[in-house]
Amino acid sequence: MGVEKAVNIDDLYRMAKRRTPKVAFDFIEGGVEAETALPRNESAFNRYNLLPRYLTDVTKIDQTTTLFGRSWAHPFGFAPTGAAGLFRMGSDLNLAAAAAKANIPYVMSGASNDTIEDVARIAPDQTWYQVYAARDIKITEDMIRRCADAGLGALVLTVDVPIRPRRERNARNQYSHDLRKITPGRIIDGILHPRWTYEYLRNGGAPTMGNWVPYAPSGSNVHQVLDFMATQTPASGQTWHELETYRRLWKGPLIVKGILHPDDATRAADLGANGVIVSNHGGRQLDRAPASLDAFPAIKAAVGDRMTVMLDSGVRRGADIIIGLCLGADFVFVGRAAVYGVVAGAEAGATRTIDILSQQLATNLAQMGVASIDQLGPHCLTEATRA
Ligand SMILES: Cc1cc2nc3c(=O)[nH]c(=O)nc-3n(C[C@H](O)[C@H](O)[C@H](O)COP(=O)(O)O)c2cc1C
Repeated sequence: MGVEKAVNIDDLYRMAKRRTPKVAFDFIEGGVEAETALPRNESAFNRYNLLPRYLTDVTKIDQTTTLFGRSWAHPFGFAPTGAAGLFRMGSDLNLAAAAAKANIPYVMSGASNDTIEDVARIAPDQTWYQVYAARDIKITEDMIRRCADAGLGALVLTVDVPIRPRRERNARNQYSHDLRKITPGRIIDGILHPRWTYEYLRNGGAPTMGNWVPYAPSGSNVHQVLDFMATQTPASGQTWHELETYRRLWKGPLIVKGILHPDDATRAADLGANGVIVSNHGGRQLDRAPASLDAFPAIKAAVGDRMTVMLDSGVRRGADIIIGLCLGADFVFVGRAAVYGVVAGAEAGATRTIDILSQQLATNLAQMGVASIDQLGPHCLTEATRA
């Protein structure tokens, strides 16, 4: 079945799952430890209902959004997702291309397979780069320079990975981004997913962490680059001091991703960051962290008048995006929804994710009697328990 047949993100999820070996799909789908944050993220949206108003003209629905002085076609973008090229070769560039054609932002992961320079050839100012800081700050500084030279649109510093998380599915599967360990179970997994395996073998194995190649010892193979990256990340000693350095080096919009406490948002604003993404990393870092949607209102209240406040984690439908916007989010990002699309159908699949979400947005807005997303606010919501 082609991705055009996917009616919702769950359909893309099923298509992606069918195509991908369990060891890789568990990495995409899974969370950390007991995975309690995963359902919490999604069910946080269920606490709200959308309150419709009728007899307003909704023949045209305007989803355009201005962010950092630029107009975007929709109020959502693609969150950074590492190792995407392992799940389907070329995924970073396919996500970038789909985002570019639809005029939404694509955030390239600090653990991407394709490079800053590759993506700059597709859509420089529509691509933002997510930094995983290196222990050697000279590497991070050089990555920031490369982003500036490539003309990328914004820098996103992810702060919620101070250590490597304990994701139990990955531990059980002995997952690593280069899948270097060949076991009987993995061979069977490969045989059961022949399209993926054919592509993997044709590529000569896993794709490399492209952006890290210049810093690894020269001539390093895929595994050696990954081993080098593991000596550099996570940068557990990183503090607010480094954010000051990045602020000095990067002249464009600087965004801090993974904020859940209003005081951290305030500190980021004080140091000159232009935005935060309220996020619990899709439930992949601290299992007992609050749902991003629950953490959002206090952060919006603390810094909403000083900086752009965005949201991710648990968004699977257009209605979820609307709820985020009603609570004051300036923009919303999707992680898994984007990966499911690109894994299910390469660039066409990523485009299908955008089409599904934007159609759901349009129909829900029309049904609510809202012709333009700037009319959304708390007055459009009721709490489900009281409705
Ligand atoms: C497969 C996968 C890889 C991810 N890799 C990164 C990453 O490299 N950097 C990062 O900041 N966040 C990463 N994230 C987190 C996403 O950017 C985002 O915060 C999260 O997926 C949002 O939750 P959702 O998947 O429920 O939409 C990843 C998420 C997934 C699912």
